[in-house]
Amino acid sequence: MRVTAIGIGYLGLTHAVCMADLGHQVLAIDVDEDKVAKATRGETPFFEPGLEPLLRKNLDAGRLRFTTDFAEIGEFGEVHFVCVGTPQKPGATAADLSYVYGAVDALAPHLSGEALIVGKSTVPVGTARDLLARVRAAAPAGEAVSLMWNPEFLREGYAVQDTLTPDRFVFGVTSDAAGERSDATIRAVYATPLSSGITAITMDLETAELVKVSANSFLATKISFINAMAEMCEASGADVIALANAIGIDERIGRKFLSPGLGFGGGCLPKDIRAFRSTAASKGVESIVSLLSTVDTINLGRRERVTTLARDAVGGSLAGKKVAVLGIAFKPNTDDLRDSPSLDICKRLAAEGAIISVHDPIAMANAALSYPDFRYAESVHEAAEQAEVVLHLTEWSEFRAIDPSALAEVVAQQVLIDARSALDADAWHAAGWSVYRPGQPPKHAR
Ligand code: UDX
Repeated sequence: MRVTAIGIGYLGLTHAVCMADLGHQVLAIDVDEDKVAKATRGETPFFEPGLEPLLRKNLDAGRLRFTTDFAEIGEFGEVHFVCVGTPQKPGATAADLSYVYGAVDALAPHLSGEALIVGKSTVPVGTARDLLARVRAAAPAGEAVSLMWNPEFLREGYAVQDTLTPDRFVFGVTSDAAGERSDATIRAVYATPLSSGITAITMDLETAELVKVSANSFLATKISFINAMAEMCEASGADVIALANAIGIDERIGRKFLSPGLGFGGGCLPKDIRAFRSTAASKGVESIVSLLSTVDTINLGRRERVTTLARDAVGGSLAGKKVAVLGIAFKPNTDDLRDSPSLDICKRLAAEGAIISVHDPIAMANAALSYPDFRYAESVHEAAEQAEVVLHLTEWSEFRAIDPSALAEVVAQQVLIDARSALDADAWHAAGWSVYRPGQPPKHAR
């Protein structure tokens, strides 16, 4: 089939590449000429395991092209995937929908025949129906154009896998003949993964829009719940990891997304729960507003807590103190710094006068562009030289291989704050370190 992807950011580029890999002819568009030029050369503008080789493979196979011309994609595609970003509006909690409306408005005049627009971006409930009326009014093909919503659930670091073999497909369609056509067309697009038995659920447009934000809100709530329990454990001398392991065995609860520590960050969870809160407020649904406000407050509180731990570890004042930071990406296996809890803590510590020395396996180049005042070290040992405290803020697997005895040789003071509870606390303690982890009793150096 001939499909297009509008927007080649994280979602759009991954989607375009994966659709080509399923055997479709794909034309992808972006307004950013640099991004288009890079993608055409076979380069991804961000770090995502497995994506660049797949991009090259499909470019070489002649199944994938890039353009900046909307007329070209209107003419080319039977199915148009809208993959543009919906960032948080500056100074507000609501989502900025200007890219979504801009994409559909730019595409509409070029649509002829029974074209199908498939929204993938995360949008407030009601957006799809509004876009459908708008596109039908502007497209030469008028009522023949269909629009459906097929939310994306991809995780950074697993983007290819989550696109090609997602846990489920959600198809939000209109309840008319156009909706039936949309459902049949999208099932043809995803015929290969569907044939392997992946569940697809067809529903109305509004429910499909809400599925995405409720999935992210539930995950965020789970994380904030365990972080609230970490606070309770600290207040009681209990151990939140043992607690999470015990409750997680219950299949109704599950252990995933119950890792306490620094809380959630990234380009999705934080802005999606804020946008959803804003939508709920506009509809007068106070229960969602208060639930998600609490989730957000608990989450941001973790960053304050780790900042306090670091300040206490260096004797109450951070001014002039050297702090080693392990990991600056918002989570491992990505170079994404959007709403990174680690970056937020670095900024807080630097504002109090600390000298920040960071090591991250992948994200340092990105960080150095925006935050040139931090020191960036090529190794953990270099970052930790003369440090008064070592903060483990992003749980890259490499950090689990650190030899705590060797690292002890270079630091000024053997204090580790393992904010992700991912290192071997007993081994570090045995090597003479004081170890602090959220929600667990501290291990003081002997
Ligand atoms: C998320 C959703 O998982 C995905 O379905 C959606 O489409 C986009 O948002 P992503 O942002 O890539 O994906 O990250 P994810 O792996 O879900 O982690 C989100 C955040 O939660 C990270 O900051 C992570 O460190 C944190 N987290 C995760 C915890 O603090 N504890 C946990 O137990 C799990």
